[in-house]
Amino acid sequence: MMEKDERSTNFCSIVKDDFLQYYRENHTLKSKIGSTIYVLLEPGFWAVFNHRIAHWLFLKNLGILALFIMRLNKFFHNVDISYEAKIGKALRLPHCMDIVIGSSAIIGDNVEILNGVTLGAVKIRTEGKRHPTIGGGVLIGAGAKVLGDIYIGNNSIIGANAVVIDSFPENVKVGGIPAKEIGKVL
Ligand SMILES: CC(C)(COP(=O)(O)OP(=O)(O)OC[C@H]1O[C@@H](n2cnc3c(N)ncnc32)[C@H](O)[C@@H]1OP(=O)(O)O)[C@@H](O)C(=O)NCCC(=O)NCCS
Repeated sequence: MMEKDERSTNFCSIVKDDFLQYYRENHTLKSKIGSTIYVLLEPGFWAVFNHRIAHWLFLKNLGILALFIMRLNKFFHNVDISYEAKIGKALRLPHCMDIVIGSSAIIGDNVEILNGVTLGAVKIRTEGKRHPTIGGGVLIGAGAKVLGDIYIGNNSIIGANAVVIDSFPENVKVGGIPAKEIGKVL
């Protein structure tokens, strides 16, 4: 009973955080109703919401239902987020197009992922932890591919179209193929 309550509380609070980060960053519609409509019209919010449901079903050992929601998410939002991926609060997908997040990926809080990003494995059809761990506050630029069981430190920025195959510490900017440090986040 305790476990059930904790999970449902956690689910509600995480969805609230997902909602609020779009709500607060809305500069288009100034009223509360306008901001709410803004969030409800945001595909990135719904794609993450669907993942929250799929992940919750997975934790409840309802893998088939989780897979169903994951596939619907792929069909409607063009994102392939594994229901097993562990994603922190307030994940932001501003363009919400062509995003792949693998099953053993771990994403911290307040991460932003732009269009065309893959958090994938280096070798396909392998087992175990084979996808990246992304620290809190990281920005992953458009088209970036982050591959393997690597770690990206908090608040770092991955440049557009980077192919990242090594771990990087916090507060760095990385770019290129293969990605190298190109600057510091001040
Ligand atoms: C990585 C990024 C944050 C760096 O921005 P910045 O701090 O202003 O860096 P600068 O433009 O001063 O560039 C610093 C160096 O990194 C290089 N660089 C910048 N972005 C790069 C990238 N994506 N890949 C490879 N090298 C890059 C620059 O050529 C420059 O090299 P130099 O010192 O040899 O001249 C930015 O270029 C980027 O890619 N942002 C993501 C934006 C995005 O995805 N937009 C899509 C919106 S839909």
